[in-house]
Amino acid sequence: MDFGDIKDIFFYPEEGEEGVPHDPDARFMKERIDEIPLMSPKGMFEELEKLGYRGQTVPRRAVTLMAYRHVKRLRRLYVEMEPREQVGKKNNLLLMGPTGSGKTFLIEQLFGKILKFPTVVVDVTPFSETGYVGQDPNNILTRLYHQADRDERLARIGIIALDEFDKLASIQNNAVFAGAGTTKDITGMGVQRELLKMLEASEVTVPVELTHSSYVETINVRTDDVAFLAVGAFSGFSSIVNRFSKGKVHGFATSRGDSRGHSFEDGAIAVTFEPEDVENIAYFQTYGFLPELIARFGGIVPFAALDLDTMRAILEDDVLSKTREEFAREGIELVIPDDVIDVIVRLALKRETGARGLSALIFRHLEEKAFELFGEKQGVTLRTYMEGENIRSVVE
Ligand SMILES: Nc1ncnc2c1ncn2[C@@H]1O[C@H](COP(=O)(O)OP(=O)(O)OP(=O)(O)O)[C@@H](O)[C@H]1O
Ligand SMILES: [Mg+2]
Repeated sequence: MDFGDIKDIFFYPEEGEEGVPHDPDARFMKERIDEIPLMSPKGMFEELEKLGYRGQTVPRRAVTLMAYRHVKRLRRLYVEMEPREQVGKKNNLLLMGPTGSGKTFLIEQLFGKILKFPTVVVDVTPFSETGYVGQDPNNILTRLYHQADRDERLARIGIIALDEFDKLASIQNNAVFAGAGTTKDITGMGVQRELLKMLEASEVTVPVELTHSSYVETINVRTDDVAFLAVGAFSGFSSIVNRFSKGKVHGFATSRGDSRGHSFEDGAIAVTFEPEDVENIAYFQTYGFLPELIARFGGIVPFAALDLDTMRAILEDDVLSKTREEFAREGIELVIPDDVIDVIVRLALKRETGARGLSALIFRHLEEKAFELFGEKQGVTLRTYMEGENIRSVVE
């Protein structure tokens, strides 16, 4: 009789029923995974809308579908307890697109808020810098472990967003974009190799604390079921695609329309990648990535720059409605006419900061007014108007 049998008989005698794992860890995982809402991709899409996510229909579909598959896969593994070989591998995604277009926001809302996975968004830039003690890529998993309430079982099914992923490109920021030499940044490649190991189903030794001490306790975390999302703006990527097509501009939409005849009017800013532009791993290799690392991402999802209407919707639904509500609670009616909203949105588009720039543009002004008025005046109206590029207001 082996030890497993003894354990079964003597320690868990009441759990012989079908489908209930004897091993306490497996039982724990079964219960936890069972608690994750099994929402359809469509359901997740709509739930995101309710949380204020706007536009990005195509990437939103791709990411919700990936999330659905991820939950389904975990259920097959931990609830239905199907053998691993039968279930197949996890799906990692690479999200690329302009700044402020909702890449990070989507991950946080979907995986963190809706599905409640242990989710970490890690800026990977420091990992490519030399001589920075304590920035071992394995620390990414330390962060996940902390996010999972220091439960390694939960860390195993977490979500890791590798933010600013494009900054790991070994030959970024140098002559390659001018068409000249290739100065290799060894450290960047080193980090990519480390990440490659992490992305592959492997057991990683993870320090339990983010410390520089070499005496820190470690745990082993398997990454078979950790989903990775690489995120980046990938500026300069378009020039690589263009170089491949021998200088001919194709496949990139800009604010002034593109060669395919798409027109964004006043809409999109910066560069919008089309799916066919990002399929070619050779482009990523030229950009400075190990092809085998890029190949670990089952899908590459291009995000478009937010257009005028989406930006307006975000400003209205998210930023302004909350601010109006707060002013109302203070007994102040906040009036922001359409032309002010229009100017703000256009300014944000011009600055190419995406939706991030929206609140900054109006907040600075409203913060000052809030300071002056809150708790001091009630029953008044604060009417905003534009004076050139500046927001002004009068108290009536
Ligand atoms: N599609 C969207 N719907 C609603 N709000 C959005 C959307 N995109 C961006 N925002 C708002 O703008 C902020 C910045 O967006 P986010 O952090 O997702 O940008 P990003 O695409 O990750 O950019 P970067 O490449 O600079 O990291 C969000 O916190 C959110 O408030
Ligand atoms: Mg981001």
